[in-house]
Amino acid sequence: MKKVYLLPAILIASVAALVGSCGHNSNADGQTISKDSLIKRGNYLVTTMGCNDCHSPKVMTAMGPALDTTRLLSGHRSDVQLPPANTDALKNGWALFYAEGTAMVSPLGTSYAANITSDATGIGNWTLQQFKTAITKGKWKGMENSRNLLPPMPWENYKDMSDADVEAIFTYLQSTKPVNNVVPAPQLAYSEIKPDKP
Ligand code: HEC
Repeated sequence: MKKVYLLPAILIASVAALVGSCGHNSNADGQTISKDSLIKRGNYLVTTMGCNDCHSPKVMTAMGPALDTTRLLSGHRSDVQLPPANTDALKNGWALFYAEGTAMVSPLGTSYAANITSDATGIGNWTLQQFKTAITKGKWKGMENSRNLLPPMPWENYKDMSDADVEAIFTYLQSTKPVNNVVPAPQLAYSEIKPDKP
């Protein structure tokens, strides 16, 4: 009797292994998830995890800053020169946020939120593995030997993110409108941290 069931079981296991090896996402029951569902889930995660707070430029409204929907997730705008920061405030222990939320000045220096759209100036040419390394290990450009990502990128919150969620976010970001924007390199108070080299 046992043998009768063995063959279908082997078949199912091999199909599941094959599907897994194609790099498709699958749910707890081992069913593959379509690209559309991945994008939907990624959009949901990006929205609820607050990536827009820092990575999207804002427009000022009577009700305060609102997302600039023409350039979502494209990072600090390259055409925005930051106003001079109050250095007394910094000496007194303050960290200052640019009103759009896309740049921060602290005793460490100035950091700018990255372009994470599907453009080549964003993460359009990145691999899933690179994205995983950036998000879960906090590595610049997703390269194992590069510098750590600077504050306020909260990568430590993401270090235990499941592969499925990392893939969903990556698939969604790759589906976003490409926005050409070369974000300025950080200016750092400590020279041992190299701003734009691994
Ligand atoms: C509190 C602000 C903040 C939030 C929230 C935030 N980020 Fe970031 N992120 C940054 C900053 C600032 C940088 C640039 C850090 C640097 O230059 O080292 C960055 C860098 C990155 C990078 C690396 C880019 C590169 O070129 O190496 C990726 C990828 C990224 N963020 C994705 C995300 C995603 C996805 C989310 C939401 C799940 C998110 N971030 C939430 C501020 C933030």
